[in-house]
Amino acid sequence: MDMKTFGYLYYKARGYSREDILKEAEIDDEEYDFFEKNLKEVIEEIEALRPQADNIGIDFVRLTRYIYERESDQTLGISRPDAVKVRAGEIVSLPAVGKINMPDIHLYKAIEQRRSLRDYSDQALTMDELSFLLWCSSWAKDFRSNEKNEITLRNVPSAGARHPLETYLDIRRVEGIRPGLYYYHPIKHCLVLLDNAPEKADQIFEACLRQGMVASAAVNFIISAVPYRTAWRYGQRGYRYLYLDAGHVGQNIHLASEAIGAGACMIGAYLDEAMNEALSLDGTEEFVIYIASIGKKKN
Ligand SMILES: Cc1cc2nc3c(=O)[nH]c(=O)nc-3n(C[C@H](O)[C@H](O)[C@H](O)COP(=O)(O)O)c2cc1C
Repeated sequence: MDMKTFGYLYYKARGYSREDILKEAEIDDEEYDFFEKNLKEVIEEIEALRPQADNIGIDFVRLTRYIYERESDQTLGISRPDAVKVRAGEIVSLPAVGKINMPDIHLYKAIEQRRSLRDYSDQALTMDELSFLLWCSSWAKDFRSNEKNEITLRNVPSAGARHPLETYLDIRRVEGIRPGLYYYHPIKHCLVLLDNAPEKADQIFEACLRQGMVASAAVNFIISAVPYRTAWRYGQRGYRYLYLDAGHVGQNIHLASEAIGAGACMIGAYLDEAMNEALSLDGTEEFVIYIASIGKKKN
């Protein structure tokens, strides 16, 4: 979904007049007529679900209390999900984890000076620096697999060591790596090129509601969730844990960025459909949960 479609749906569902929708969604008469003709059912669905949507936060907390827990798929003996969802494509090696040479920064200083940074210098990140960011946020230091269970252990905590999060990179300025959309393999510690069409970067920028830091970042970390990995063990309550897990990843990205003279800004304001579409995710089995733009600080 692009910004125009979103704009039309957003204002239409709120009862704006044709004239106001043209203005607010920045669309012309022809586009308006096209949307009117083709998005009727979508509008009807949005309106039908509105009462539920208005209360979903309260319901979510109430209905994921332990009192509602049933036997989980794990205890029912349903086969375990894989710990990693591998994507196919051209492999890009990264500097090996044990060999990354990073400047020391006192933890106190990293925590104290961390702020959200939205304006970056033109300087590229080095491959070592990217490798370090991935090591801190997503790398699997251990992988245990048998018929009954499969887990990774990482530098961030995760409920039940389920680690339901996957990392995609929208690389814009990293020395030695072509710009493009990549998947990060947390066990092999390498990248898999998914798409290097220049339009992909624009698509991601649009999906992030044209927030400037996405366009000026050296790299955008796009974190997705594979909910069943956690729900297999915790049922619907597991959905709470996805967001908690993502918070840990975000904080490690922030602190690791400080260590390399960069800054980060976490992003929760994005169009779900558009981000999922950009990454070819179905929005149910896997969906984008969090984004971080990262770039070097200006002197
Ligand atoms: C869950 C979450 C979502 C956020 N989403 C956005 C966002 O979409 N755009 C943005 O500019 N900042 C976003 N931020 C950054 C916050 O605005 C920022 O952390 C806050 O203003 C406090 O400033 P500080 O991080 O410099 O301490 C987000 C932060 C969090 C934790």
